Amino acid sequence: MSCLEVVGGNSLYGEGTIQGSKNAILPMMAAALLTKEEVLLSNCPNISDVICMIDIMKDIGVQVVKQEHNLLIHAKDILNVTIKEEYGKRMRASVILASILLAREHKVKFPYPGGCTIGARPIDLHIQALEKMNVQFQEEEKFIVGNTLGFCGADIYFSFPSVGATQQAILAGVLAKGTTRIYNAAREPEVWTLCDMLNKMGARILGAGTKCLCIEGVECLHGIEYQVPCDRIVAQTYLCAAAGCGGEITLHTDCVMQMKMVMNMLQEMGVEIKSNPNMVCCKRKGQLKNIPKVKTAVYPGFPTDMQSIFLALLSIGEGTGVVEEEIFESRYACVPELKKMGADIRIVEQCAIVKGKRKLCGADVEAKDLRGGAALILAGLEAEGITRIKGGEYILRGYESLESELGQFGAKIRWM
Ligand code: UD1
Repeated sequence: MSCLEVVGGNSLYGEGTIQGSKNAILPMMAAALLTKEEVLLSNCPNISDVICMIDIMKDIGVQVVKQEHNLLIHAKDILNVTIKEEYGKRMRASVILASILLAREHKVKFPYPGGCTIGARPIDLHIQALEKMNVQFQEEEKFIVGNTLGFCGADIYFSFPSVGATQQAILAGVLAKGTTRIYNAAREPEVWTLCDMLNKMGARILGAGTKCLCIEGVECLHGIEYQVPCDRIVAQTYLCAAAGCGGEITLHTDCVMQMKMVMNMLQEMGVEIKSNPNMVCCKRKGQLKNIPKVKTAVYPGFPTDMQSIFLALLSIGEGTGVVEEEIFESRYACVPELKKMGADIRIVEQCAIVKGKRKLCGADVEAKDLRGGAALILAGLEAEGITRIKGGEYILRGYESLESELGQFGAKIRWM
């Protein structure tokens, strides 16, 4: 198990850029398999979820070459329609390949997906959407097997605007026979980017970024070069780090407009934020003031992926703050660990009630999921003394060289 050591107590200063987005690139990599031509994705983040997706792609016969931050994908032939159990366990997003294999080979066999343990995370909405589009599913031991005679356009109504299920239905719809309409679609930027890339490959998707998508199926898609957008969650993590530690950092990134909710919240907490569409500057001098209550919500609301990170911030703010988790159940795995560092957090049903303190103290803790791990790093940077974090592999799923990225602002983080 990899372990990180964080030395607390330093303010953060400096300028930096932001890696490519994890949640954007995974479905984009899947989309690249809908054409037999080459697809080049630039600004590819060096994170373990991308490596896992590459491993799966190679395993099903796709040619993939990764050089630094460029990813060249060539799905001329697909040799195998089974996603191995070990991959499904490693990464939930692997389920997105179901629509691809059904579109290309009319068959798929995939394990129940895994990933971070943040609640039950069913895939019923994915299955229901694909069934409406002419797929028959059955269970075979630990696998789900799907067969189709070809996707047919359909009207799909999501009871909840799931990001993954919306992306799944889009990927199924682009090469389907006829028109697919998706109602109550997710509006996360990662859905918009997927639609933009697919349209540039020759797809016909209308309504990207809205709750209602209309996809006219086309015969085939062509190759493309596409730049992966910056990771809004990583950028917001860094802003929160500066807010928690004090100091002043500037980020040059294309995702500023997607961070309005978190930037507003930081301002309410007494942090100075200046921004334009390509840059954001975050400065904190005085004491942080806790916001009374915030609920996680679908985009453009407060992102569930920032919830744990905010707990680390509220832990050192003045007054009591409450965070309510509305998207995932059991997403408070980092709370017992934050408590070891002196945080005063009480969980009541879906709410975390945080009584702010001036200081946390370093401790030996363990990351249980990706964003919870980032929260522990933040808490470690804010704390007095040294924090050792086990389970560092969770952090590598989404953050590229976090130790040197935050290190350039003066943070002291190292792998042990
Ligand atoms: C994506 C992101 C994740 C983020 C989440 C919400 C990726 C790789 N991951 O996850 O970082 O936290 O969006 O912004 O992009 N649900 C069902 N049935 C389904 C699918 C989902 O009930 O078939 C439920 C989930 O259990 C959860 C809620 O819907 O309670 C949201 O899930 P969803 O939007 O699908 O998130 P993911 O796509 O898994």
